Amino acid sequence: MRAVVIRTFGEPEGLEVVDLPVPVPAPGQVLIETEAIGVGGVDAVIRRATVAGYGFREGHLLGSEVAGRVTAVGEGVDASWTGRRVWAFTGLSGGYAEHAVAAVGDVLALPDGLTGADAVTLGNSGVVAHFALDRARFAPGETVLVRGAAGSIGIAAVQLAARGGAGAVAVTTSSAQRGARLRDLGATHVLDRSGEGGGPDAPSGFDVVLDVVGGPQLPRFLDRLNPNGRFVAVGIVDGQAPADFGTRLTAAFRKSLSYATFSADTVPGSDQRAVRSSQFSDAARGDLRTVVHEVLPLEQAARAHRRMDAGEVFGRVVLTP
Ligand SMILES: NC(=O)c1ccc[n+]([C@@H]2O[C@H](COP(=O)([O-])OP(=O)(O)OC[C@H]3O[C@@H](n4cnc5c(N)ncnc54)[C@H](OP(=O)(O)O)[C@@H]3O)[C@@H](O)[C@H]2O)c1
Repeated sequence: MRAVVIRTFGEPEGLEVVDLPVPVPAPGQVLIETEAIGVGGVDAVIRRATVAGYGFREGHLLGSEVAGRVTAVGEGVDASWTGRRVWAFTGLSGGYAEHAVAAVGDVLALPDGLTGADAVTLGNSGVVAHFALDRARFAPGETVLVRGAAGSIGIAAVQLAARGGAGAVAVTTSSAQRGARLRDLGATHVLDRSGEGGGPDAPSGFDVVLDVVGGPQLPRFLDRLNPNGRFVAVGIVDGQAPADFGTRLTAAFRKSLSYATFSADTVPGSDQRAVRSSQFSDAARGDLRTVVHEVLPLEQAARAHRRMDAGEVFGRVVLTP
């Protein structure tokens, strides 16, 4: 089968199209013939090798979520999965290929009306957005800021906050055009990347900040929290926060602020599954929107990564084999 691996960590050009044997599903796994492969910010983080600890070697097969048809099942898996169209989480590897394996617990049947591209755009991102808002103890009427809203996590978060009855849903983004698209999805105020702008009626502070960006600018967004405000870090597209960012929190001691990191890894699989299933149904009905930036052939994975690196992607790039 054709697959895309990291030959050299760093630039997108280090991605290479190779031939690999079709994987054999282990006990508890299914084999999926892929029709859509999500290209996520986490793939870029792994490719750049900017975060220590992943520990992947050259030849790493990228990709964490796919949609397609189950063609075989491993020992102990109900044979009725065979032939079903599914979404699957493949972990931190294995997705950029014509065939992928996944644990059956990480597989969900697709409802009618949901495309594979939609499924890999919403599958993980929608769940991250849902549980990050939950972790932030977001309540109706509160003001929310989604920092880095133009990616698939942010796009889901904006919609969930809006339909959850937020008093205001502010976003940070890099252009007026993106701002207009985010308004169409439910944003009420559009700020620039540094958190400025938003108009005279923009909230002066936020009860909840959902931060996909991290990086050196993070502390200035801690300053935007209202008393009792909650900041939840879900991503690091601009790298790690400065080591001393906590001093900003302690300096504002009397505001009773909270800072949390959130990873979907800490949410039980059954809880993720229930939320994902409900979001897929919502998306199939058109009640939750997915934004597919572009669909490219698998062989053009490097182009997809260049698009991400250049900041051109609004929503998600999807590969097809
Ligand atoms: N917590 C979890 O469980 C979990 C799960 C999966 C992924 N993640 C993390 O989530 C992140 C990817 O999420 P995503 O795919 O939604 O994001 P993304 O599409 O990679 O980025 C979101 C937006 O951030 C803005 N941005 C990019 N670079 C920036 C910078 N230097 N400063 C300010 N804004 C910047 C861009 O919008 P504008 O150009 O419009 O500003 C971009 O569209 C990764 O860090 C990944 O590790 C977390």
